[in-house]
Amino acid sequence: MGKIIAIANQKGGVGKTTTTINLASALARENLNTLIIDLDEQANATIGLGIGREFVKVSSYDLLTSDIKIEDTILQIDEKLSIIPSSSKLANIVEKLIGLDEKERLLEKKLNSVKDNYDFILLDCPPSLSVTIDNALFASDSVIIPVECDYFAYDALTQMIQKINQIQKEKNPLGRKLTIEGVLLTKHDNRNLFGYKMIEKVKELFPNKIFKTIISRSSHIQEAPMYGKSVLDFAYNSRGSKEYRELAKELLERSGE
Ligand SMILES: Nc1ncnc2c1ncn2[C@@H]1O[C@H](COP(=O)(O)OP(=O)(O)OP(=O)(O)O)[C@@H](O)[C@H]1O
Ligand SMILES: [Mg+2]
Repeated sequence: MGKIIAIANQKGGVGKTTTTINLASALARENLNTLIIDLDEQANATIGLGIGREFVKVSSYDLLTSDIKIEDTILQIDEKLSIIPSSSKLANIVEKLIGLDEKERLLEKKLNSVKDNYDFILLDCPPSLSVTIDNALFASDSVIIPVECDYFAYDALTQMIQKINQIQKEKNPLGRKLTIEGVLLTKHDNRNLFGYKMIEKVKELFPNKIFKTIISRSSHIQEAPMYGKSVLDFAYNSRGSKEYRELAKELLERSGE
């Protein structure tokens, strides 16, 4: 059965989309059938995988706001990797869903019919705590929280954890669980002592939840989306590619695959 993981942090620019694209690409290379759902109106995961906005006919917005079948929203990227793209229409999602019953459980219901077709479904979340993130967390089995090695990003963690706890409580009576898969430190500059201080501080907060893999700040990682590729496809032997492949292995070990 597919594992659904939200890549979430309400703080902007911490590496959610970069992690979604590169972790998904690494899992697909392990021969695991992987689906990305781009839930951010910025459509960075969509564009970063080489799908121009003009090619997106149906998106995650349509999935959440109409009775379109989920199968009709999926685009195949390669043999093992596919995506439900996003569109700027997602900016209107809050108004569109206002007053609707169980509006935070729409994605969960839609995913039921395809969950078993995938080994992993990764949800790239927007930098906010809106109805979209509620949908993502209700649909997910676990959350990966990317945290940039930076003090403001560290400070924002508490809010994210509160949100996860709130959804956890709401899911429990329904017999569903939401766990923290792990906190992922990103954009680490190994020449900067402050980065190491941040790593220690996050470790104090989550002694058992930090991924051993730490993602370094890397120009290959930054450049790959310009070519519509993951860093694995752009520069397979680069450090960034190696780190995301290690992250995939660590996730698989944790998931017992
Ligand atoms: N390890 C890294 N090394 C260098 N640059 C990185 C790294 N990770 C992410 N970036 C760059 O940092 C910026 C923000 O990354 P990304 O878009 O993945 O963050 P995000 O959390 O999805 O942002 P948002 O909150 O806007 O959705 C991008 O320009 C990206 O290329
Ligand atoms: Mg993003």
